[in-house]
Amino acid sequence: MKIPSRASIPWSRIHLPFITVLLTLIYTQSTQACERSCQLSVSHAFADKYQLLTSRHFLTLSQKINQSFFHGVPPPPAAYTPTEGNNAILHLQESLTRAQQAWDVSLFRTVFDTIFVDEPQFRGDCNEPHRVDQPAAGVNWTMSDCHAMDYICGNPPSICHFLPMIKVRIERKLAGLLGVKVGGGSVGSSDGGSGTPGSADDGDLYANFLGPALSKVIMTHPTLEPYTATLHGNLNQILEIVGDQIVKEAALFARPGAEPFRGDERWRPEWDLEIKLLLLSFP
Ligand SMILES: *[C@@H]1O[C@H](CO)[C@@H](O)[C@H](O)[C@H]1NC(C)=O
Ligand SMILES: *[C@@H]1O[C@H](CO)[C@@H](O)[C@H](O)[C@H]1NC(C)=O
Repeated sequence: MKIPSRASIPWSRIHLPFITVLLTLIYTQSTQACERSCQLSVSHAFADKYQLLTSRHFLTLSQKINQSFFHGVPPPPAAYTPTEGNNAILHLQESLTRAQQAWDVSLFRTVFDTIFVDEPQFRGDCNEPHRVDQPAAGVNWTMSDCHAMDYICGNPPSICHFLPMIKVRIERKLAGLLGVKVGGGSVGSSDGGSGTPGSADDGDLYANFLGPALSKVIMTHPTLEPYTATLHGNLNQILEIVGDQIVKEAALFARPGAEPFRGDERWRPEWDLEIKLLLLSFP
């Protein structure tokens, strides 16, 4: 490093105010962003809600397995006893629970990426043009800041303002991913995009959870072996029906101006307030 000579001292004097302004700008901008802890908290808050909302699809699957897994197989005691039947269904439902746990874990990442990685990203300068004043340390943003911050940038009020749009983006993505997991194919087939429809057998749910569970059931109940194709077909039908339903929802979200989930099993209006207040509590 070059040791400054006397001649360089006037230079630093001239530039000191400029550097101070620059540092202030950088500081101001960084305190206004929804930073790491804000990003993580908000993503977790969203992911918790979507766990609840997507759990209904797993519940439907579980009920349908109970209702129609043995469809077309002679009733007890011909090929299986009532206890064996019950155990088989329980075993399949347990594999479904594991699939749901894996899905729940993946939800957080999907939500995080949708808000902070996918375009349009909630990052960048919120001062051009100026809309809101950064509150003093320890003071929360207000709902009026949420209302006023009407363009996409990095501060919490901007995310708050665009919450409806963010929900549509997340729901569309989740429905696409879950539809493919359950019904097979690839992401995009749901909304007529670039994906390809496939068989439920190729979906993650069958390939990694229900399929192995079915094999185990048949292995432990050799009397069911002649009905392997029937049982497999029943599971395939169940997955197709539920997968289609999820995909149809995804197609709804793909429409411009789509509304987020509504109704009892759907997004609750008070969750908006909960997430907005959480957001506004970050600097
Ligand atoms: C299947 O459904 C019946 C009737 O609703 C219920 O009694 C039974 O406990 C269920 N079995 C399993 C394994 O969930
Ligand atoms: C800021 O918001 C959070 C979350 O709503 C709340 O718990 C906290 O009390 C608020 N702080 C102030 C100073 O109002």
